[in-house]
Amino acid sequence: MKIMVLNGPNLNMLGIREPGIYGSVSYEGLLKLIADYAAAHGHELILRQSNHEGDLVDWIQEAYGKCDGIVINPGAYTHTSVALLDAVKAVNLPTVEVHISDVDSREPFRQVSYISLGCVRTIKGMGLEGYLEAIRTLEQRGGAQ
Ligand code: DQA
Repeated sequence: MKIMVLNGPNLNMLGIREPGIYGSVSYEGLLKLIADYAAAHGHELILRQSNHEGDLVDWIQEAYGKCDGIVINPGAYTHTSVALLDAVKAVNLPTVEVHISDVDSREPFRQVSYISLGCVRTIKGMGLEGYLEAIRTLEQRGGAQ
């Protein structure tokens, strides 16, 4: 499968940012984990991170006609962005939402996700393994193409 993996704001700070919540592995370490899994399972990846909402909207649109599915950790935009929800609905690709932490056991504002309304599954609290679980979900579902 060809899979786009998107990370939103502050996920480039993994390993530095609140390690008690997000762990000590860096963003580069996360990319390696995902790339190793993809290589072992014959997937092609597009891996992107941005701190800017519009970049994420642009990349979701770019996936249309190009990718079989999307894995996205929208970071804080999860809890605020109707634009990201509209983008995943627009492209209508199987999309899995990932959160490293268990957002349900944190502040109440983290328990709201707009994008989840356009996702086939939301994975929370599995740490970095959640990204691999998201890819497995796409494998089981089969892609759009
Ligand atoms: C997060 C949870 C969000 O609430 C937070 O804003 C993030 C990361 C997670 O992976 O647990 O940036 O999406």
